[in-house]
Amino acid sequence: MNYYTAPMEGLTDRIWRQAHQRWFGAPGAPARYYAPFISPPENRVLIKKKMAELDPAANPGAPVIPQLLAKDGALAAWMIGELRKMGYTEVNLNFGCPSGTVTAKGKGAGMLRDLSKLEAFLDEVFSQAEGPISVKTRLGVTSPEEFEAILDLYDRYPICELTVHPRVMRQLYRGEADRAAFAKYLPHCRMPVCYNGDITTPAQLKALEAEFPNLSGIMVGRGIIADPALLRQAVGGAPASKEELRGYLDELYHGYTGAFGMASCAVSRMKAHWHYLIQRFEGSEAFEKQLRKAREGWEYEVVVNQLFTLPLL
Ligand SMILES: Cc1cc2nc3c(=O)[nH]c(=O)nc-3n(C[C@H](O)[C@H](O)[C@H](O)COP(=O)(O)O)c2cc1C
Repeated sequence: MNYYTAPMEGLTDRIWRQAHQRWFGAPGAPARYYAPFISPPENRVLIKKKMAELDPAANPGAPVIPQLLAKDGALAAWMIGELRKMGYTEVNLNFGCPSGTVTAKGKGAGMLRDLSKLEAFLDEVFSQAEGPISVKTRLGVTSPEEFEAILDLYDRYPICELTVHPRVMRQLYRGEADRAAFAKYLPHCRMPVCYNGDITTPAQLKALEAEFPNLSGIMVGRGIIADPALLRQAVGGAPASKEELRGYLDELYHGYTGAFGMASCAVSRMKAHWHYLIQRFEGSEAFEKQLRKAREGWEYEVVVNQLFTLPLL
């Protein structure tokens, strides 16, 4: 079974991918780190700052898959060509993002609203772009039953792997991933299928593997931010030690400080990581507010030092 890390805007950037690989890369190294989405620029002029995230020199050793958020098939095909010139092989298409600002533009999971538009998009992409193209999708917009027609469409294209996050667009991240709907549609998928959604412990990962042994992969998102050693544990390795977590988080913080040029921006990025991670520290509730209020680097450092006096759960 391949394990992948999910694309997560604001979390799984190049600095995280490097830190994760260094501290928790092996055993259980993710077969692929999916990068958060980028949108192809309409004027076809690449934005240096955005592309820096995907610069192979900034991602040594990490098997990165770029992801596109687009609704114009010709533009997406052009961008796939640009990514291929940078040395990337697989490129992933995002039909899953449920954020209102994205779906209002008919992108992400908004692409699932109108299947004739989705078909036109896929026609253009697959006729104009070369090489492996994978898809990450939700089940539909309002109801999981929509997936029957969506899958009929996907099955007509040479999608190299289909990652299914079994929620619908309207659900955002509420409720639970719909495993029953996933199980129902899985036999009808012609391409390799990767499951994604709500995996937070090695035991859940192993149970999913046992339930669906024919999957090509399992993708974990929030679970690996909450427990960066999740995949290592899934292959029998040790849980994250306090020293490792400290080293990993310090590397992230210093990496973000260097990249953003100021500690306060790094603090805000670190809070996104701590949002998931803090629950591993026993008694951390006492420090949640202090962490939330931290703005400056020194305020962040004080509260993190206090958190690290707590035992790990
Ligand atoms: C903060 C955040 C940012 C995300 N950004 C992306 C993204 O850029 N592309 C994408 O396909 N999915 C994105 N997702 C969805 C995740 O990739 C994943 O599908 C979702 O979190 C469910 O998996 P999980 O339960 O393992 O976290 C994001 C999710 C979160 C919470």
